[in-house]
Amino acid sequence: MPRTPLPCDADHSTAKVSYRVVPWQRRKGYAREAVRAVTAWAFAERGLSRVQWEHSVANTASCGVALACGYRLEGTLRSAFVTADGVRQDVHVHGRLAADTGYDVQG
Ligand SMILES: CC(C)(COP(=O)(O)OP(=O)(O)OC[C@H]1O[C@@H](n2cnc3c(N)ncnc32)[C@H](O)[C@@H]1OP(=O)(O)O)[C@@H](O)C(=O)NCCC(=O)NCCS
Repeated sequence: MPRTPLPCDADHSTAKVSYRVVPWQRRKGYAREAVRAVTAWAFAERGLSRVQWEHSVANTASCGVALACGYRLEGTLRSAFVTADGVRQDVHVHGRLAADTGYDVQG
């Protein structure tokens, strides 16, 4: 958690975050705690300006974690994701800037 080291784009001082919690440990606040920690590290230690992530609009859990960690909903990419069953879905883009404060930043 996160699954891989934070993939960074040094030229633009940005990174993308993703995460997964094993099913039997969900809804205990682990994703929120981990994302907040890695976000603080990205800004304070890596000096990044922006962290973002994307999720299928069907993934309400991921959307909830994003908002709980102060990642604003910035927009929707239409038909940008294909499920394992071949169904195309829209994708939400969330972003948090180093200048944002608190964890209640809503888009
Ligand atoms: C998304 C995922 C990482 C959430 O992990 P988690 O540890 O259960 O999340 P948290 O307990 O930290 O939840 C934080 C907040 O997110 C929201 N949330 C989490 N799971 C939710 C769900 N199933 N439905 C609705 N909201 C949810 C809630 O607002 C929650 O706060 P609350 O419990 O106080 O109401 C987990 O469900 C998962 O691994 N899913 C499969 C992988 C995945 O979809 N990864 C994201 C890919 S973009």
